[in-house]
Amino acid sequence: MGKDGCPVGFDYIIIGSGIAGLYTAILARGEGTVLLLTKGSIDECNTRYAQGGIAAPVGPSDSPEAHFQDTLAAGAGLCDHEAVRILVEEAADRIADLTRFGVPFDTMGGEVALALEAAHSLPRVLHAGGDATGQRIETMLSHMARSLNVRILEYCLATSLIVTEDRVIGVKAIDLHSQRPLEYEGRCMILATGGGGQLFRLTTNPPIATGDGLTLAYQAGAEIMDTEFFQFHPTALRLDGAPPFLISEAVRGEGGIMRNCWGESFMKDYSPDGDLAPRDIAARSIVAEMEKTSCDRVFLDVTHLPSHTVLSRFPSIYSFCSQNGLDITQSLVPVTPAAHYMMGGVRTNVWGETNIPGLFAVGETACTGVHGANRLASNSLLEVVVFAKRVLARSRAMKNAATPNYIQPSNGVFRVPERQPHWLPDPLSREAVQGLMWEKVGIIRSGQGLEDAARQLAAWQDALSAPSDRPSFEERSLVTVGRLMVESALLREESRGAHYRLDFPRSQSSWKRHIVFRRNGED
Ligand code: FAD
Ligand code: SIN
Repeated sequence: MGKDGCPVGFDYIIIGSGIAGLYTAILARGEGTVLLLTKGSIDECNTRYAQGGIAAPVGPSDSPEAHFQDTLAAGAGLCDHEAVRILVEEAADRIADLTRFGVPFDTMGGEVALALEAAHSLPRVLHAGGDATGQRIETMLSHMARSLNVRILEYCLATSLIVTEDRVIGVKAIDLHSQRPLEYEGRCMILATGGGGQLFRLTTNPPIATGDGLTLAYQAGAEIMDTEFFQFHPTALRLDGAPPFLISEAVRGEGGIMRNCWGESFMKDYSPDGDLAPRDIAARSIVAEMEKTSCDRVFLDVTHLPSHTVLSRFPSIYSFCSQNGLDITQSLVPVTPAAHYMMGGVRTNVWGETNIPGLFAVGETACTGVHGANRLASNSLLEVVVFAKRVLARSRAMKNAATPNYIQPSNGVFRVPERQPHWLPDPLSREAVQGLMWEKVGIIRSGQGLEDAARQLAAWQDALSAPSDRPSFEERSLVTVGRLMVESALLREESRGAHYRLDFPRSQSSWKRHIVFRRNGED
């Protein structure tokens, strides 16, 4: 029922107002009626914080093939080749769309300016406002969605998907102002709910990133893939008293150097790529240096770069640090790794379709197979715009079909196992989940730590009562996604990409495959 108590039907219902939700809504508006729900204000999302930019092979010496190879190398053997091929070949057209929509990409000498980030073989990252790319994109898309009369409900929390005869036909939600339950029906349900960085104590993600889309989809019977792979960004600010904040990888792309707390540069000891090593290697190297020096942080040094370069390329980082008492042109920047990007998600094909008719997923909540075991920097914003366009193409094509398309269930799907409950010293809270996940399911994992975490999460899961408001719903979501992450990390008895186990430190060719979970009964 809508606000007026009547059932409400739309052509498209989109959950989430980051780049995935807004971009899809703008495209969908050309096809029919669109409702967009978002649980906070329209601009509360990961997108708004994106700094580095959006990768695309548009430079004169670049090519889709080079971008393809870099993406596969970062993905450590688990990328879906078809999805990556689509990503790199459709990239230039989607960048042209964004430019046409009004995203003010930075230029230099009349040409689009391209930055270098880790594991890219050449400068390939477009940016806007220096390091304010996400904020520029979010502002432009939200204005556009409003001007196109997309119906936008802010502070509206989606709590479950309505499934009838194995097909998704709508969504249940709560109006967070009045606490009233709402219900909407739609032909196409599109999950664009973003990531789950809030699973961990240290994260670059804002408070909305609680993995809700995975929980909604999993509860409805969708397949969830690759949850063991969570990317930790090497350089989040670790300044006492300052809130969480990313220090972009592009800073190292411009020549920034990581130093341990003894002042030594160390990345060459761990990787021939030095400061621009892939993120998983950089994050583990920092952990090793912090242990070696008994220090809870390392430092990023840009004091040797011209001040005007730092100020013009990184105005947001410079100003955030200044407001917190640090002049980065004069002093080293204290940093530490932090949870950043969820590679796993709702399993989709290259059209955004899931295994449930009527349900699509796009953006960080989806798992298209593009990122494999480790995402290449700045590929996520690109993934959104490339695959959102394809969701729309498919939904248009199936407009008159009696049953919407869906993907075949995976072979060899896993079920979350029963676990002996763990004695519970602490009640469930967001902080308790974050502490557990950081300690036991973080950058370096072990079988024993994962077992402990699985039993603790299982006990919390058993004790969950039906969620009634945003905090209880988000706690349920963190426990559900945490459980999927831990169980897949336990199954994967090897190390690959972002998943590193002390008890299985090498990759195994027999594990060059995906782990997919589907719900079993009431779990
Ligand atoms: P989001 O932008 O997170 O949007 C999710 C939306 O869903 C939000 O509006 C949220 O409120 C809503 N939502 C969630 N649950 C519910 C619910 N139950 N009911 C209703 N609404 C709900 N990627 C790059 O490619 N380049 C970069 O430079 C880059 N920098 C980054 C910097 C930071 C600090 C961070 C955190 C990420 C960065 N990333 C970058 C990753 C990238 O920003 C994200 O992957 C991308 O923006 C995700 O977009 P999205 O629309 O899928 O999710
Ligand atoms: C960054 O600017 O370092 C983040 C880029 C990304 O996560 O893709």
